[in-house]
Amino acid sequence: MLQKKEKYVVAVVGATGAVGNEMIGTLEQRNFPVEKLRLFASEKSEGKKLEFRGEKIAVESLDANSFRGIDIALFSAGGERSKIWAPVAAAAGCVVIDNSSQWRMDPSVPLVVPEVNPKDLDWHKGIIANPNCSTIQMVVALKPVHDAARIKRVVVTTFQAVSGTGKKAIDELMQQTTELLNFRQAKCNVYPHQIAFNVLPHIDKFEPNGYTKEEMKMVNETVKIMGDESIRVTATTARVPVFRGHSESVNIETEKKITAAEVREILAAAPGVTVFDAPDKNIYPLAIQCDGRDEVFVGRIREDESIPNGINMWIVSDNLRKGAALNAVQIAEVLIGK
Ligand SMILES: NC(=O)c1ccc[n+]([C@@H]2O[C@H](COP(=O)([O-])OP(=O)(O)OC[C@H]3O[C@@H](n4cnc5c(N)ncnc54)[C@H](OP(=O)(O)O)[C@@H]3O)[C@@H](O)[C@H]2O)c1
Repeated sequence: MLQKKEKYVVAVVGATGAVGNEMIGTLEQRNFPVEKLRLFASEKSEGKKLEFRGEKIAVESLDANSFRGIDIALFSAGGERSKIWAPVAAAAGCVVIDNSSQWRMDPSVPLVVPEVNPKDLDWHKGIIANPNCSTIQMVVALKPVHDAARIKRVVVTTFQAVSGTGKKAIDELMQQTTELLNFRQAKCNVYPHQIAFNVLPHIDKFEPNGYTKEEMKMVNETVKIMGDESIRVTATTARVPVFRGHSESVNIETEKKITAAEVREILAAAPGVTVFDAPDKNIYPLAIQCDGRDEVFVGRIREDESIPNGINMWIVSDNLRKGAALNAVQIAEVLIGK
């Protein structure tokens, strides 16, 4: 368990990646009380220097003794690394906040979005899971509506940015776009098809039920975070040629009637949410506007006229901030009582 201190020794595992890089920036921007920052990545990055608060810090590779003396470790180095190293870190007395999907559905591991279920942090045993990026932004907007009108069913379609796949995918979109605009052939390494100028209805592996793992993450994680097994969720997730910011079309059916105006009012007062909803002025959430921002943006709020108690909305957030690094740092802030 985390001992209260004035400043903490913090580690970022996967520091050279898309999320890790954002974690370092988020710790600095939010003035997290860091006594010392340790950075870890694969052996190929050993010795590489990354900047934190104007200081250059050398990246280390992991070994059995790496976590000695570390209070909090933010993991973003993929599921395989989390599977091996998160228990090692926890055994060394370090609290792990893990961004991979490795521990999310483990019943002994809390899956936390601080605006939704901060109380679940009370029962952690050394590992805390950070949810999937598309799930985080959705539940931040759904929880206040659920509290007001009880959500029975959610139908979500996502339009997810390539940064959700990591730094290699960011490079692939850049390279393919450049090649195609120069009338050259685009090479596909990260995705099975060209992502530039295209939409792929495929994120993560396909499951035997025909859904992708990403879709099933949205289904299962939503129920666990909201703490309500009666909520039915169905998802279609698509990758779009956007660098940063996931967009979602979300349809909800509620037990109690709630109007679009009431949803707008509830969400305007909700923590972590900004309502951008003035269609007469062409104001609605856009991926390019959320880049580098902390909030979950909600707009296009309207009643679903095909059912008695339904609402449609459009939810956008920066997948590397609230969808990953920021949520992890916010969890750490709750743990230290900041
Ligand atoms: N991108 C998102 O929006 C997002 C959102 C939520 C969760 N996540 C999760 O966060 C994790 C990282 O995602 P990412 O997008 O940042 O990926 P990424 O850009 O590919 O970065 C992967 C990181 O893992 C490190 N790594 C690889 N092998 C390692 C090893 N053997 N030991 C230690 N470090 C190792 C890499 O170091 P090298 O540079 O040395 O290879 C790099 O720092 C994944 O589990 C992902 O599912 C991502």
